[in-house]
Amino acid sequence: MASIGLFEAFLALFCFLIVNYFLNKKPFDFLHIKKTLQSYPWNWPFYGMTPGLLVRIHRINDSVEVLENSNMTFPFKGPWFAGKDVLITVDPANIQHIVSSNFSNYIKGAEFQEIFEVYGDGIINSDAERASKLKKCYQALLHHQGFQKDSMRVTTSKLKDVLLPLFNHFSEAGTVVDLQDVFRRFTFDTTLVTITGSDPRSLSIDMHENEFVKALDDVAEAIVYRHFTLRFMWNLQKWIGFGPEKKMVEADAIIDRVCAKYISAKRDEIQQGTSNRATSWFYSSHEARS
Ligand SMILES: *[C@@H]1O[C@H](CO)[C@@H](O)[C@H](O)[C@H]1NC(C)=O
Ligand SMILES: *[C@@H]1O[C@H](CO)[C@@H](O)[C@H](O)[C@H]1NC(C)=O
Ligand SMILES: *[C@@H]1O[C@H](CO)[C@@H](O)[C@H](O)[C@H]1NC(C)=O
Repeated sequence: MASIGLFEAFLALFCFLIVNYFLNKKPFDFLHIKKTLQSYPWNWPFYGMTPGLLVRIHRINDSVEVLENSNMTFPFKGPWFAGKDVLITVDPANIQHIVSSNFSNYIKGAEFQEIFEVYGDGIINSDAERASKLKKCYQALLHHQGFQKDSMRVTTSKLKDVLLPLFNHFSEAGTVVDLQDVFRRFTFDTTLVTITGSDPRSLSIDMHENEFVKALDDVAEAIVYRHFTLRFMWNLQKWIGFGPEKKMVEADAIIDRVCAKYISAKRDEIQQGTSNRATSWFYSSHEARS
């Protein structure tokens, strides 16, 4: 009897330690486990590193630590037989290799196209030949003098007329602000003004929610979700209209609607000859292509 009691107590303690480890890494400090071991997600039998991921995904510090301890490139092991092993890298040399110098080595394939379907035939979904054509097109736009001048003008004016007064206002009112959100809105507004000519004014005192920004966020979230879920699961969710997949469908409709609005406004401007030269050329060359 006593031995069973001891065994159960041991089992309970073991479960407690495991749960505690994931909720809070501190209980293990007294064991002097090396820092690297602590900040490396365990590769569990069957579940792979998924339990660690679920606990840490919202903790940016942990992700940074894991990447630092693995020399900026981390092989993530998904559940067994799920085909969800992922290589995560923030090493500039690897990124250069993958997206630029040796881009043609990385053929996207059908699964990739399906996961990123919302991006259509854009540069993200294209293999070497088409991507290189698109890249040339974007580079031509970015190097166009008119575009550079316009971009400089828009950024400076947003900085002077919106961002600085906004910071003044926040500092006088003593409001706490989310800097990441502020800079995201700043980038969104300046990019949209430069490309489309109309200003969504998402950066303002009331920091109202912009449906386009939210749609882009929802799409990004659903794409991450697809990477870590089985294909039939997310396809089922998409079919039923549930969770991130439901948001993705709604976001896709919003993106289509908003883009169509911008494109038709730009088309009118071009016809009336009131559009700036760089972006008109870009839109016209894309229209000719499609
Ligand atoms: C995150 O890491 C930084 C630097 O290592 C540290 O100063 C900060 O306290 C950490 N924050 C949390 C919430 O652990
Ligand atoms: C870390 O990565 C860099 C660049 O990819 C490589 O040159 C270096 O040898 C790596 N260091 C270790 C300890 O693996
Ligand atoms: C990457 O591309 C360079 C040329 O751009 C080539 O010399 C090198 O062999 C390629 N590396 C791999 C692994 O394909």
